[in-house]
Amino acid sequence: MSNFPISEIRKDFPILETKINKNDLVYFDNAATTQKPQSVIDSLSNYYKSFNSNIHRGVHQLAEKATEEFESTRETAKSFINASSTNEIIFTRGATEGINLVAASYCKNFLKKGDEIIISEMEHHSNIVPWQMVAKENDLVIKTIKVTGKGELDMEHFKSLLNENTKFVSIVYISNTLGTINPVKELVNISNNAGAKVLVDAAQATSHKNVDVKDLNCDFFVFSAHKMYGPTGVGILYGKEKILEKMPPYMGGGEMIKDVSFEDTTYNTLPYKFEAGTPNIGDVIGFKKAIEYLNDLGRQNIYKYEKEIRDHAWKELKKIDRIKLVGTSDSKIGIFSFYVEGFHYYDLGLFLDAKGIAIRTGHHCTQPLMDKMNLDGTARVSLAMYNTYEEINYFIDELKKIISK
Ligand SMILES: Cc1ncc(COP(=O)(O)O)c(C=O)c1O
Repeated sequence: MSNFPISEIRKDFPILETKINKNDLVYFDNAATTQKPQSVIDSLSNYYKSFNSNIHRGVHQLAEKATEEFESTRETAKSFINASSTNEIIFTRGATEGINLVAASYCKNFLKKGDEIIISEMEHHSNIVPWQMVAKENDLVIKTIKVTGKGELDMEHFKSLLNENTKFVSIVYISNTLGTINPVKELVNISNNAGAKVLVDAAQATSHKNVDVKDLNCDFFVFSAHKMYGPTGVGILYGKEKILEKMPPYMGGGEMIKDVSFEDTTYNTLPYKFEAGTPNIGDVIGFKKAIEYLNDLGRQNIYKYEKEIRDHAWKELKKIDRIKLVGTSDSKIGIFSFYVEGFHYYDLGLFLDAKGIAIRTGHHCTQPLMDKMNLDGTARVSLAMYNTYEEINYFIDELKKIISK
């Protein structure tokens, strides 16, 4: 067992003290959203208490302080993903908005009738529907990479889909349903060689492992703060500067302009060109604290500890005959989707909730993947770095009791 400071970490997350039906809360719904450390919570209230102000256009001291703090998150996020410049860091509402922005700005303007976009069978709806929308409007074609029985991308099938019409590939880094860590670096390399741009949906990656956009060499990369211990309503779209430069704005309004007249409008420079309107200032400022929290712990250390508890949960789940696990790649994080013959996943979720254990049930916004596996849903446990061996043992015991009834 590593010497990960788990007791200290748990003290930083006040919600973990919560009782549900007199039981300690066991929060295993981290792929949906993670809990927030005190430093993030304090940062939000501090902003509203001490320097709430709009940014970028004020000369007074509150506006200056708010602007400075807001922009300092951009700097921190740039280093976090190893981008080359803060011009490549666009604040969004989350991963979903980042994907929509690229579909509506890049694909709508730079792809032409008959061009092909490749996604995969394991995508979240956020990485399916925006492409369908842009494809419908612009006569583009969507192709999907098959997923194997273990829940991995079929790379041979992927290669067979590539042709001179392939212009865009959008792929999930870590599947929110299967937990599979996809070989995105290889995918980017193959796609770029075939002349296609690549977006990486890293919504489930940034809290669990080191991410490095230069190393991946992807063209776009999206993620959400709330899945990495930060506030809701904030995310980041990374794009290579030379590509973002060419892309037209996604929304019009204040902040994204240089000059406006009724005859013509010129647009602001990067990154502001893509940030119309007053942004989510307080939450962006809080996001910095979440990144700092991860940096202080060290993502290598987090990855190592999470792998240990993943292995433990996996080993224990495998011992229960009636549990059918969905997604058994060796390259996976602690996300376990499963079902039990004769038990509805919804009932499992309710029974566990009565014991204080929060899991997710349903299709996890991956309906096409469920269809492919002939399921309409699963129960899903998703672990985070504040989860413990004791919590896993308690869950396994309660699960055994429930399914033996
Ligand atoms: C893999 C994946 N992509 C995209 C999203 C969308 O993230 P958000 O709702 O924060 O925009 C999620 C959310 O669950 C996800 O798991």
